[in-house]
Amino acid sequence: MTGNGPAIDALQQEGVTYPPPPGMAPYAVIGSAAAYARAEADPIGWWEEQAHRLQWDSPWDVALDDSTPPFYRWFTGGTLNAAANCLDRHLPERGDRVAFHWEGEPGDRMSITYRELHERVCRFANALKDLGVERGGRVAIYMGMILELPIAMLACARLGAAHTVVFGGFSAEALRDRMEDFGATVLITQDHSFRAGKKVPLKANSDDALAQAPGVRHCVVARRSEEPVDWTEGRDLWFQDIEDAADPDCPAEPMDSEQMLYALYTSGTTGKPKGIVHTTGGYLTGASSTHRTVFDLRDDDIYWCAADIGWVTGHSYIVYGPLANGATSVMYEGAPAFPSHNRIWEIAERYRVSILYTAPTAIRTYMKWGDTFPQVHDLSRIRILGSVGEPINPEAWEWYRDHIGGGTAPVVDTWWQTETGSIMISPLPAVSTLKPGSASRPMPGISARVVGEDGQDVPRGQGGYLVIDKPWPSMLRTLLGDDDRYVETYWSRFPGLYLAGDGCRIDDDGDFWLLGRIDDVMNVSGHRLSTIEVESALVDHPAVAEAAVVGRADEVTGEAIAAFVTLRDGVAGDDALITELRNHVATQIGPIAKPASIVLTADLPKTRSGKIMRRLLRDVSEQRKLGDVTTLANEEIVTEIAALAVANPHQED
Ligand code: PRX
Repeated sequence: MTGNGPAIDALQQEGVTYPPPPGMAPYAVIGSAAAYARAEADPIGWWEEQAHRLQWDSPWDVALDDSTPPFYRWFTGGTLNAAANCLDRHLPERGDRVAFHWEGEPGDRMSITYRELHERVCRFANALKDLGVERGGRVAIYMGMILELPIAMLACARLGAAHTVVFGGFSAEALRDRMEDFGATVLITQDHSFRAGKKVPLKANSDDALAQAPGVRHCVVARRSEEPVDWTEGRDLWFQDIEDAADPDCPAEPMDSEQMLYALYTSGTTGKPKGIVHTTGGYLTGASSTHRTVFDLRDDDIYWCAADIGWVTGHSYIVYGPLANGATSVMYEGAPAFPSHNRIWEIAERYRVSILYTAPTAIRTYMKWGDTFPQVHDLSRIRILGSVGEPINPEAWEWYRDHIGGGTAPVVDTWWQTETGSIMISPLPAVSTLKPGSASRPMPGISARVVGEDGQDVPRGQGGYLVIDKPWPSMLRTLLGDDDRYVETYWSRFPGLYLAGDGCRIDDDGDFWLLGRIDDVMNVSGHRLSTIEVESALVDHPAVAEAAVVGRADEVTGEAIAAFVTLRDGVAGDDALITELRNHVATQIGPIAKPASIVLTADLPKTRSGKIMRRLLRDVSEQRKLGDVTTLANEEIVTEIAALAVANPHQED
């Protein structure tokens, strides 16, 4: 962004507020706002206190080593093992407690206790040892949501080997690139995974990837579909066979706090994915502490993070955070609509889920399906709702609270990134007064600001760049094998400040409003507008289920707002509705934000993690050849939208 004036114009005004549920504070993990002040007065002391909740084999010498910024190191000299923290230390007191209530898409179910999980991890770790995996080793994992996935991750951690999990929806090429970049010697996968009634051929994809990844010597395959797969003798081994044959006694290796626990690849603005490196002590401190405080975890909670372990949300809030806290979680293998739109709520009812953590895109989908599905299920145990992954529009926020949270459950809108490792900005459910659409304020111990082009704080109410100005324990340490790109991407624009790449504004109360990625910002007649604000205004209309907005080049205004809208089931779209929607946005935000065109479409192009690919919509709007579509989950929809956009390109007055 260049030019004078505010970095981003934030036009939408907030409305209603919700105080914390009465009577919650005295029993809450954090029950008073005093925690913020205490952490601010001594952030390092705050994090040391959180780290002390883990089990260390030897204590740290220095809590924060900031001698070579931006290469910060936490709890140096200390040693611990992540798997021992997630499993062994719970055995004396809560070994018989369920770690996961797992449910397969076809309907099979299994509950596994901490003791059982511990034994399976120990056996599998010994089996990996036989394949030459040891301290400092590198293992790639390409699986669906079956129990063998967390078992594989924890077995690596137990041995002190780093893992990289490649999301099971990725292609063979994506898998090959990541395995190669990571330097994996073993790949762990499964025969097929179940998704939306189909079988995804993970082993066949792995075979294709392995054909071009000579560094990978072994392929361990978990049985799931039981259907035949191609087999390479000497290279391929069955997961369950080598696990069963292995010894159950496997001591956990004490690891240096700064030893890499895992790398996770995330897309950057250029083609090559970035390997985000997380280490052991600081990461586990951040993930476990925030899991406990943000969700106000209690002993009798049943917690369900409905993400996929292939993304960072699953790493931190299905595996490492909840297990380090000894929580009982639900883990679901499949698609939310299989075999019917009741599935999600059926599962929540069956296991008496009390905390649900999911993404705005999922919430908007459930909203689109209609209220009747959650209505027929007993969701009365739900007491906390979480949202993550993109800004949540107030309409979806309210629906979530009303229809899933019984009109009382606080919604914690949690802002963070693969890079940050754990939640950075979020309400505390017993403390914060909630504003739908705002992620509230930085967590205790986290220091965030919003700055303009010059790196100075912008005035309250004005949009700018979100930066983090103090190191935090679960921060990424570097990009794997590319320190220069790490410095360049995150630390070069404003020296000394971590650039998150998101727009944000802080209101008069000090609450943060995320405005989407910086590259999702439009410039219309010299006004910088966030795509999310226009999208929120559209979704606020009762006819609209989901909306995506992009800026397309315009001779007169610089960029013109092009909107793509899916309607709620049963609503018929016509020209009159389009006019109504455009006027609705104008009334909600102001005439400047009125979309120049609206295309009504059955679906929006999304990545496999559910993020709308605005870049492709920009290509469509400007009638350009489509950019990279390899991460797209629903490729055919782009062609359909392109045809619609060409048929009806301009609607402006
Ligand atoms: O733009 C922000 C958005 O997701 C980005 C991080 O994506 P990823 O690394 O894939 O991690 C997603 C899960 C943590 C951020 O830069 N984002 C995430 N959570 C929120 C959000 N935007 C607004 N509000 C949120 N609660």
